[in-house]
Amino acid sequence: MKERYEKPVISRINAGIPDKFGMSSRIRQVSSINNVPVQQIVEQYGSPCFVISEQTIRNTYKDAYRAFSTRYPKVQFAWSYKTNYLDAVCQVFHNEGSWAEVVSIFEYEKALANGVPGNRILFNGPEKSADDLIKAVQNGSYIHIDHFDELYTLIGITQNADKTAKVAIRINMDTGVYPKWDRFGFNLENGEAWNAITRIMMQDKMELVGLHTHIGTYMMTPDPYGVAAAKMSKLMIDIENRFNHTLTYIDLGGGFASKNTLKGAYLPGKDTCPSFDQYADAITNAIISSGIDIDKLPTLFLETGRALIDDAGYLIGSVKANKRLSDGRKSLVIDIGVNNLFTSFWYNHDIFPAFTESKVLEDTTIYGPLCMNIDIIREAILFPPLEPGDNVVIERIGAYNMTQWLQFITLRPNIVLIDTKGQMHLIRKQETIDTFKAQEQYPEHLKPKEI
Ligand SMILES: Cc1ncc(COP(=O)(O)O)c(C=O)c1O
Repeated sequence: MKERYEKPVISRINAGIPDKFGMSSRIRQVSSINNVPVQQIVEQYGSPCFVISEQTIRNTYKDAYRAFSTRYPKVQFAWSYKTNYLDAVCQVFHNEGSWAEVVSIFEYEKALANGVPGNRILFNGPEKSADDLIKAVQNGSYIHIDHFDELYTLIGITQNADKTAKVAIRINMDTGVYPKWDRFGFNLENGEAWNAITRIMMQDKMELVGLHTHIGTYMMTPDPYGVAAAKMSKLMIDIENRFNHTLTYIDLGGGFASKNTLKGAYLPGKDTCPSFDQYADAITNAIISSGIDIDKLPTLFLETGRALIDDAGYLIGSVKANKRLSDGRKSLVIDIGVNNLFTSFWYNHDIFPAFTESKVLEDTTIYGPLCMNIDIIREAILFPPLEPGDNVVIERIGAYNMTQWLQFITLRPNIVLIDTKGQMHLIRKQETIDTFKAQEQYPEHLKPKEI
């Protein structure tokens, strides 16, 4: 094959910011995902295209489950729907044994449609309507009450209901992480949590079954989980002593970091991210040593999101143009914008060429295709010269992008799942103009005239 011509580049040598690992002169190329060539994926499903590896989800889940279940006898994961609620993805988690954790009636109905029984759904979130709560009570779901108004609505509903509501309260507390995550739930230190617990214990048609907390997200150290688990266990013991009532579970929410690198971080996320074993140590040590009777140990629920799915997601794109900025800096325009890669607002995502022969890396800014100044995928990355049409692969994008994406300027692309045998399956079709036509309508007087 004839080698591709590369324009020579003259670049001023400057010391740059010292990096512990020295200056890299090579970039990894990602020419396949789970042995399926990137080129084949693009030929079949276009560019950009999201790709999900079923094998990676299963491996990551198994690793997390092993870390907790080898340290603690009763562990139950509940898949955090908002992190990625593609039906096929949810099914992989349910298939591995996960319950569902939802934060809206839309997610709740998605979980039911995915075949999750009502009594395996944890219903979180600050906005549940009276109708949502009635449905959850009827289905025997676990309702995690967020605030007093929700509590009073639920009390009103259950007073006339034939079924007892299974409830937990969401607790917020000082875990040593600041600013405190106190927007959701009842505060432990100021007595709000006890107020709510006592009101629930006075109800005939409400059973307090658990305690829930979600202490933050992308928690870079396991220590706050140890603090939270100790405080939740102590609260459980105090409830037992005061009301002679044993709770069946403690839910530590989500928040484990993924291996992505936060903007401004000195070291790459894959080097700083605690392992599942470290999180499991912090949490289970605190519960085991709390003094709870071993025959009354609560089930430990985990609503881990990003740490279970980030690694399984890829976004393939294509180079659209090369540009030099006015100061001589190199830039690339690709067909992946921040509308499809929402997490690029807080992560420096790893981006790789699908193919390169070049041994020259140049400091490059990577822009998306949107006609908006904010559409920057990487402000600065050492990248080889690529030509329009060449493919790039962005790794670790499985969490939050396929739920927080924006329909803005361009349409959402295809999503493909590669199964454990290496077969590709289209799991969400790309949007077309008809997707939008189906939703919009003209008032009679604004209907387009036939030309
Ligand atoms: C209640 C609750 N549980 C679980 C999660 C998942 O969090 P993460 O993706 O950080 O693990 C979230 C995310 O914000 C949440 O609010």
